[in-house]
Amino acid sequence: MSQRVLSGMRPTGQLHLGHYHGVLKNWLELQHQYQCYFFVADWHALTTEYRNTKVIAQSVWDMVIDWLAVGINPGEATLFIQSRVPEHAELHLLLSMSTPLSWLERIPTYKDQQEKLKEKDLATYGFLGYPLLQSADILVYKASKVPVGEDQVAHVELTREIARRFNHFYGREPNFEKKAKDAIRKMGKKNAKLYKQLRKSYQEHGIDEALSTGQALVETLQNVSLGDKKRLLGYLEGETKTILPEPEALLTPTAKMPGLDGQKMSKSYNNTISLREEPASVEKKIRTMRTDPARVRRTDPGSPEKCPVWQFHQIYSNEVVKSWVQNGCRSAGIGCIECKQPIIKAILAELAPIQERAKRYIEEPESVKAIIAEGCEEVRAAASETLEEVRQVMGLMYR
Ligand code: TRP
Ligand code: SF4
Repeated sequence: MSQRVLSGMRPTGQLHLGHYHGVLKNWLELQHQYQCYFFVADWHALTTEYRNTKVIAQSVWDMVIDWLAVGINPGEATLFIQSRVPEHAELHLLLSMSTPLSWLERIPTYKDQQEKLKEKDLATYGFLGYPLLQSADILVYKASKVPVGEDQVAHVELTREIARRFNHFYGREPNFEKKAKDAIRKMGKKNAKLYKQLRKSYQEHGIDEALSTGQALVETLQNVSLGDKKRLLGYLEGETKTILPEPEALLTPTAKMPGLDGQKMSKSYNNTISLREEPASVEKKIRTMRTDPARVRRTDPGSPEKCPVWQFHQIYSNEVVKSWVQNGCRSAGIGCIECKQPIIKAILAELAPIQERAKRYIEEPESVKAIIAEGCEEVRAAASETLEEVRQVMGLMYR
């Protein structure tokens, strides 16, 4: 079973180079390595945009087009929209019943965002539930890996706790231990012995590696039923069956894309270059970028480490160009406009194929809709399977 990767993005308008270097390039790699589900988290956008819901629709399609334009390949990854898969909402509701308020209140993004976005009034039920909805997004597909930035790690950690609590409440079955032991016998002598050793190292000595080795061992078993696999996975850790597996955060390496002012590139700082930026506008934005303030006149030497343009060189330039900048800046051998030329060229070259592909999708909105329709249909099958199982173990099959 190839591992499932799941990640979502809130539709916040057209994507920019920060999204490309920070997130999408990572997705491009992952789509070759795993079964990837990438989705538009439009319900998550509602938690902050509930007064101005009109902005969401356009952003949804702009975002999908930008994903496709950078090379997310619908033949490899599955793309969909959260609100088209109502199972996310059902699981969110069911999980909300047993989620302690304190778990949500202590998530750092809760207070931080309320402070930061004061004008939006985020003292709402929906906003408190933001990370729990995210947990439902992940658990409804039993995703094992969740690529996220640093700010989202706490949400994946919450998801693990939610899964553990769920399994603890609803993964109990009569005679669990006996059934688990029967399953061990079915593993064959060698595997059974190894399994028992690993379980012991984990439970008695707390060796985490023994747990992951044990899980891998169970995953590779061929002639064991799905139910028994769940028992074996659960028994490795404790006394319950694993209904909802705990996901792992895949921390996206922080190739921080600087903005035009040297701070992180972000729409709220108004320092972005969008993926659909016209070439003339790219050029203008770079040409008017601030540089080291010490370089008042062309003849004043400067220090690249005090200049946001240098940060761009670190992303876009090779060693030869970088040493040309270092020497030329410190000796006043080059001017700032000259120094910016290779950056302009590199960004235009990077954006050209993206914009060409975006143009094709903009001209054929039907093809974009078809890709999404297909993705929604595919993931819905997986999500409804999980919900069948969840309703079953919760005792809700009386309809
Ligand atoms: N909260 C994420 C963000 O703001 C978006 C998101 C929603 C997400 N659901 C998810 C990311 C599930 C990963 C998995 O970036
Ligand atoms: Fe910045 Fe380049 Fe000007 Fe130096 S020469 S201050 S690195 S733009």
